[in-house]
Amino acid sequence: MSHTSASDIPSLTSLYRSNELKAPNHPPLNGASSAYNDRIGLIRGDITTLSVDVIVNAANTSLLGGGGVDGAIHRGAGPGLRDECRTLGGCSTGSSKITDAYNLPCRRVIHTVGPVYNDTNPAKSEAALRSCYQSSLDLAVQNDLKTIAFSAISTGVYGYPSDGAAHVACDTVRKFMNSDDGHKLDKVIFVTFELKDERAYAKVIPRHFPPAISDTGDGAT
Ligand code: APR
Repeated sequence: MSHTSASDIPSLTSLYRSNELKAPNHPPLNGASSAYNDRIGLIRGDITTLSVDVIVNAANTSLLGGGGVDGAIHRGAGPGLRDECRTLGGCSTGSSKITDAYNLPCRRVIHTVGPVYNDTNPAKSEAALRSCYQSSLDLAVQNDLKTIAFSAISTGVYGYPSDGAAHVACDTVRKFMNSDDGHKLDKVIFVTFELKDERAYAKVIPRHFPPAISDTGDGAT
């Protein structure tokens, strides 16, 4: 299976220049910035093939594997991953824990537990999902990791609507990039797998990370 390095994953800047990403057809959100477009990546594919520093797994509270991306990561890593996960004592929703990557091409795996989407209390689901992204970014910085790739946490079995999840992911990453720790990561990559999520990110990313004027033919931002 061929591996994809962090530098092979297109940045937002290159995606705007190749017109694969379009300028937003809504006004950019408050705080939107093109300042990080060289350090944000977007790719559709199998996260287990990425040879980045760390990939972020959408796990469950047991940390002992499951279906979806969790199943793919455990299959790719081999039995050593489950053995290490057994020593971690589980993980609460919104939190993250880090392990080695074993047979995977990346260096480490962060396991974060997303919320099961609760449409009677969407604010609680949003807060938990935000905490997944924030705690994963913090763990990457604490472990001196420079390139991090996120699967679309909670948007599969856990039923989080793709657009809303993409907004939470982009907003949390943008605020992180703006923080004192923001310079400590070289690249943050969003990995989509199903078409619904690819479409969600194509719509949502330009509202948080609009193209720089130099990156759009018509100069719109
Ligand atoms: N690479 C990248 N993304 C993937 C892959 C893969 N190989 N396989 C699935 N995905 C995507 C899904 O398309 C979805 O967008 O990961 C996202 C998260 O979906 P799930 O894996 O279903 O995770 P989640 O919705 O957070 O539910 C977690 O599912 O697998 C179980 O053990 C897991 O109980 C936990 C629950």
